[in-house]
Amino acid sequence: MIEKPDFSKLAEEEGGRIVEPQFASEDTDLEFSLRPKHLNEYIGQEKVKENLKVYIEAAKRRKEPLDHVLLYGPPGLGKTTLAGIIANEMGVNIKITSGPAIEKPGELAALLTGLQTGDVLFVDEIHRLSRQVEEILYPAMEDCVLDIMIGKGPSAQSIRVDLNKFTLIGATTRAGQLTGPLRDRFGVIMRLEMYTPQELCDIIMRSSVILSIPCERSGAMELARRSRGTPRIANRLLKRVRDFAEIMGDGKITKEMADIALNRLEIDKLGLDSLDKRFLTMIINGYNGGPVGLETLASALGEESVTLEDVCEPYLMQLGFISRTPRGRCATELAYRHLGILKDGQQTLD
Ligand code: ADE
Repeated sequence: MIEKPDFSKLAEEEGGRIVEPQFASEDTDLEFSLRPKHLNEYIGQEKVKENLKVYIEAAKRRKEPLDHVLLYGPPGLGKTTLAGIIANEMGVNIKITSGPAIEKPGELAALLTGLQTGDVLFVDEIHRLSRQVEEILYPAMEDCVLDIMIGKGPSAQSIRVDLNKFTLIGATTRAGQLTGPLRDRFGVIMRLEMYTPQELCDIIMRSSVILSIPCERSGAMELARRSRGTPRIANRLLKRVRDFAEIMGDGKITKEMADIALNRLEIDKLGLDSLDKRFLTMIINGYNGGPVGLETLASALGEESVTLEDVCEPYLMQLGFISRTPRGRCATELAYRHLGILKDGQQTLD
């Protein structure tokens, strides 16, 4: 029932980092084959899952579509996967699109009129919808109608088109950028959290079975600890480490093999790569540990501030390596210790 989506629309901004949590086109087949189809196969996000179970069961008993759902949280945590599961559990079709892919109101109108009763429309990066397109959504979400303007100038007329009752699932990495009127129209708002190493280890073991990759639990755990709390990164690293295991070992992913491969990929014990380290080192050595503004850091590093904000910072904050203050970013004691830098700027011996 779930069509294989056109992921190319979602893979708009591709980075070269293997630990980039954003979707990249190389992930298409991998993600599709590994994606759980039912809630009971989905690992982690326990609170979200428990509540969703109730909402889905209640809607099914009332024979009503599920209320509109907003999923937010850092990239790569499984928002699209959850939307697919919701549609599957409700027994309806899902259409997948994204905010930047819908350029004109007419394109959204075409998507909405094509939905059957109960169907799910999934809009990734919903904070990037244009204002004009967003305004079409308001009456559609609230009253299941489209208000379409025909003609221009004084002779313009508005006509109403009835829609089938549907469920909008919006996903965003930036809930704060959603307009109030849009946010208020979602009945269910859920935040996805980063995964624990234990949960990521379970996800890697599940993926290794599906992909027929021999993998020891200790190897999976090593990968899990270095996957930045993100299943997308864990699954990507699993594929890369398999290459090393096949060429340099007997094909099995052991703890030692995972360690060798991840060191070769320059991903450290906690999953930090060279950009994270440059980011932290710049705050520490360039700005005396902070506070320093994000824009200043971005230009000093020659990176986009959104990359730093969406990709480096969520994980560095999760680790407690940086703090955000009104005056800018600061490196914490933990960051100094991890990089082996003493507060007075000297390197430690280890
Ligand atoms: N693959 C990616 N994310 C997953 C999850 N949360 N549970 C199971 N498999 C996954």
